Amino acid sequence: MRTIMVINAKGGCGKSTLATNIAGYFASNWDAVTSLADYDPQASSLDWLARRPPERDKIHGVDAHKHGLTHLDRNTDFLIIDAPARSHGSELTQMVRHAETIIVPVLPSPIDIGAAAKFVTELLDVGKVERREVKVAVVANRVRENLLIYEELEKFLDTLKVPVIATLRDTQNYIRAYSRGLGIHELAEYLSWPDQEQWEPLVEWLESRRSRPT
Ligand SMILES: Nc1ncnc2c1ncn2[C@@H]1O[C@H](COP(=O)(O)OP(=O)(O)O)[C@@H](O)[C@H]1O
Ligand SMILES: [Mg+2]
Repeated sequence: MRTIMVINAKGGCGKSTLATNIAGYFASNWDAVTSLADYDPQASSLDWLARRPPERDKIHGVDAHKHGLTHLDRNTDFLIIDAPARSHGSELTQMVRHAETIIVPVLPSPIDIGAAAKFVTELLDVGKVERREVKVAVVANRVRENLLIYEELEKFLDTLKVPVIATLRDTQNYIRAYSRGLGIHELAEYLSWPDQEQWEPLVEWLESRRSRPT
């Protein structure tokens, strides 16, 4: 089983957006059993799943906030985990235990970038990450222009050897997709091709050995 976790201590940066879109991608592009575990009490990922049309590729929802992973389908090939905000300390250590790949979405504001730098530092300190049993990457989310604002974060992440793997624009397509229980890869291509293009380095990374611990 492949486990991909989307996490950041900060709320509103796109954790649920990324988790649902990754789940949608693997469910529709791979003939694989996909599960989406939601640890967040806000349950945005499970709400998205409830909107998913029954004729679309099935994604198994796991109410991890209530039951942990005890109800996880044993045949799962891809487990996508939507982690709650404010994960720090021992709670963060517990969360990271479930993951082999971690994605940290970051918004283009100085406050979010500063917070993300601290969060990534804390994350790299967790034993499992320190031992390189987890691979970590950052995704710049809701970018309106090719902003210089990330430059400082990129420099910082470079010293930590954490890649910024993709840059996603701010677009209504994510809101449209969410409200229909779909991922960006499941929208009509004439509408979502710029986003599918932006997702390419992310899905390539997820599909390659580079995103898996050695
Ligand atoms: N790339 C994007 N473009 C437009 N809206 C976005 C994008 N990413 C996230 N959003 C919106 O921002 C809000 C917060 O995103 P969400 O995924 O719920 O964050 P989190 O799970 O980290 O709290 C939601 O309303 C979501 O639809
Ligand atoms: Mg969320």
